[in-house]
Amino acid sequence: MSKVAIVTGANQGLGFALTKGLANRLTADDFVYLTARSEERGRAALQSLGKTRAQVEFAQLDVTDPGSVTELATHLKAQHGGVDIVASNAAARITKDRPQSEQVQAFIATNNHGSRAMYGALADLLRPNARYVMVASSFGQLRNLPPHLHPLFDTDAMSLDDIEASMDRYVNAMEAGTAEKEGWPGWINIPSKIGQVATARIAARDLARIRPNGGILINAVCPGLLDTEASRPWFDSMENAMSPDEGAAPIIDLLLAPANASQPSGQLVRFGRVLPWM
Ligand SMILES: NC(=O)c1ccc[n+]([C@@H]2O[C@H](COP(=O)([O-])OP(=O)(O)OC[C@H]3O[C@@H](n4cnc5c(N)ncnc54)[C@H](OP(=O)(O)O)[C@@H]3O)[C@@H](O)[C@H]2O)c1
Repeated sequence: MSKVAIVTGANQGLGFALTKGLANRLTADDFVYLTARSEERGRAALQSLGKTRAQVEFAQLDVTDPGSVTELATHLKAQHGGVDIVASNAAARITKDRPQSEQVQAFIATNNHGSRAMYGALADLLRPNARYVMVASSFGQLRNLPPHLHPLFDTDAMSLDDIEASMDRYVNAMEAGTAEKEGWPGWINIPSKIGQVATARIAARDLARIRPNGGILINAVCPGLLDTEASRPWFDSMENAMSPDEGAAPIIDLLLAPANASQPSGQLVRFGRVLPWM
């Protein structure tokens, strides 16, 4: 049976590299969906891919727009009946020109609520042995938060909706100017990435209960430092950064892990190795 893969935020950066890598490693019977919130940027990216082994299709997808998310899931179900590979990569950027308290709402809406919405729309479409990654980073280890905030990300006891509520609580604290006093880190990417990893952990935990023999593996990943438009403004030199293609390679290995692989599951993975949560 042909495989169906989808990459969010695929018109540039890591998402584009993941799309290209998947399209060159899957077969001519398989489909890769290059999705982007902008039709123009998405179609330009599709054009620049050139010839690939697998069939690549463009689909418009804004992860913050529930209608757009539902439309894509409906299309995938109608066309293919299910999904085998998901790279949930779409992410808003942080810019230097405004305080992070002014950016936090849109940032969490995309990076956390958007990835949660994608998972909600695709979970029932995941075929046996599906592989799902949420692109996070090593900032997403819970140990990057002070211990008194750990109960907000208790992935043994909490639900996906609980994590959404923790993220909203963080947004409110940032906007009210109380986040620092409450012990949250100043860099909004840290709580956001912890929320993403928590989401992957809970999704994996729940899937193991609901579909114990499904063989589905869901993980968060850290690509390492990559030279992209998002990271470049924050560094004087990108000498130590990898290209998006280099960063994508181990993530693609994880997405193409053989059907009999049972690990990793519910983990944060960097360069093929599991990073501790605590
Ligand atoms: N770069 C690094 O060093 C690094 C390190 C660790 C982790 N990461 C993670 O890797 C992921 C990709 O990073 P990147 O550096 O490739 O970022 P990027 O170059 O900014 O690419 C982000 C992609 O997400 C898309 N996007 C933004 N909002 C969206 C929305 N509402 N719906 C759908 N797509 C949306 C962007 O589309 P537009 O082009 O339309 O804006 C773009 O295609 C992020 O999760 C990031 O946190 C990156």
